[in-house]
Amino acid sequence: HAAPVGRARGTGTETPMVHAEDPKRRAAAHALTYVTDGMRLGLGTGSTARHFVELLAEKVHAGLNILGVPTSEQTLSQAVSLGVPIATLDEAGPLDLCIDGADEVGPGLALIKGGGGALLREKIVASAAREMVVIADSSKKVAMLGRFPLPIEVVDFGVASIERHVADAVRKAGCEGPVKLRRDGDGHPFVTDQGHLILDVHLGRIPDPAALARAVEEVAGVVEHGLFLGLARRVVLAGADGITVLE
Ligand code: 5RP
Repeated sequence: HAAPVGRARGTGTETPMVHAEDPKRRAAAHALTYVTDGMRLGLGTGSTARHFVELLAEKVHAGLNILGVPTSEQTLSQAVSLGVPIATLDEAGPLDLCIDGADEVGPGLALIKGGGGALLREKIVASAAREMVVIADSSKKVAMLGRFPLPIEVVDFGVASIERHVADAVRKAGCEGPVKLRRDGDGHPFVTDQGHLILDVHLGRIPDPAALARAVEEVAGVVEHGLFLGLARRVVLAGADGITVLE
């Protein structure tokens, strides 16, 4: 259910700070209210998670005691540069909370993640946490997943063959669309933090995310996919009308 909280006020002529600020930053700020002293926290990846780590760093400098486990090299270097105490997942052990962004939020808080290519570590860290809270601007909420291409992390050995088998698996799960190897700005294959490649599957619609997840998981060479099902406990959405928390 949706619980609107902290609705923005205004007559339309005034532009309070809350309107001017990036919705991603407002969602991140709201997520800070779930953080308490002594927590071990999964730190997500992407522009929204980046805001969260920035705001978290301010709290740390004000005396908050937390331990962060970054979900990417990118977040690791941000946390280090801002002086946020960090550890590896194995050093930290089970986590209290994981805060991360998402590319799409569908019914049942099913997510597509991996737009930034960090899905594997993100899923491992989210799974290690008692609770995952997603932060996003309200444009990420969709009636059905799939408009955003589904990222699938695969090994590099035999990637063309893996690509064909992923396309078959996707069809068997009732979806259809091109499978494309992700490339970086220079046209080279994009390589993840774990040294793998990413296939982006352009489906348009995913009527049955669980069936698709199962089908993709069966393909040899698939390491992980960006469907996060049953992982998010709460989704904090920030839009023009304030913050909405889905749970
Ligand atoms: C990275 C992710 C990100 O959480 C997702 O891409 C959202 O990014 P942003 O907050 O920049 O919109 O899954 O792998």
